[in-house]
Amino acid sequence: MSIAYYNGDYLPLDQVRISPLDRGFLFGDSVYEVIPSYSGEFFLLSEHLERLARSLAAIRIRNPFDREGWRALLTDLLARNADPATPDLGVYLQVTRGVAPRDHAFPVDAQPTVLAMVSPIRPLPETIRVDGVAAVTAEDRRWGHCDIKATTLLANVLNRQDATERGAVEAVLLRDGQLTEGAASNVIVVLDGRVITPPLDASVLPGVTRSRVLDLARELGYPVEERGVSADELARAGEIWLTSSTREILPVTRLDDRTVGTGRPGPVWQAVHAAYQAAKPGAPVSEPLQSGGAA
Ligand code: PDD
Repeated sequence: MSIAYYNGDYLPLDQVRISPLDRGFLFGDSVYEVIPSYSGEFFLLSEHLERLARSLAAIRIRNPFDREGWRALLTDLLARNADPATPDLGVYLQVTRGVAPRDHAFPVDAQPTVLAMVSPIRPLPETIRVDGVAAVTAEDRRWGHCDIKATTLLANVLNRQDATERGAVEAVLLRDGQLTEGAASNVIVVLDGRVITPPLDASVLPGVTRSRVLDLARELGYPVEERGVSADELARAGEIWLTSSTREILPVTRLDDRTVGTGRPGPVWQAVHAAYQAAKPGAPVSEPLQSGGAA
């Protein structure tokens, strides 16, 4: 059983008991982060802690720790879960507004609840590297503050379930005919040699992976554009990628009933994926950066 952190204690995950009066449970009144670690080292931790601070401020929950406090807590949690069988772990952490008698308005004196737990991150399976994944499009019916990493994820859950039932790994969301993001990922397309993704506004989460992937694409010399992507452009894209901290960069080779590009992960994905792998802690130093290459 993995070890979790819960309100000051480290204990086996199955011994954590959440109060029925916790506002995270009752209202989804909470925010979260998912932070990857490789070979016992966090990847892009500062960026995740910065976004956590922004999400907490946006919904007016007091940040229970400063940057160093979070670092110490999370590093301790990783050490307690060290296991050579699962060297790469994602830490899920959630902060709720705390426990109080049920009332929609904020309680006056509740203490934030803090939960952190781990789960393994598995390397990209060979089948996905060769064949890519399927995704489906869906209407984005989420609320107006998708830039906050809130746990109120019912619309995302229903979209992901719909995708699963249609044999796909993700729902790619469109609002008013414009791409927003995936149910639990950002979406980046390659169109006419350009790497394009919707700009950061209230309709997308500022993904930590998105940002790193765009930097890597720029470093590799690809033109990068942060601008609106229409449903028509999505349908014409030669490559479509899904980015997230746990799934890294997934190449989409089928969207709804159509083949994307050649039906194989494309050359730009190959190059950016290789660069991302090389940037992770514990990556072999000699791993060559592929640029271009066969689809
Ligand atoms: N989700 N957009 C949404 C709606 C997400 O839920 C996520 C990540 C992302 C990608 O963000 P990042 O690159 O910072 O992980 C974009 C996490 C992994 C989850 O809910 O499990």
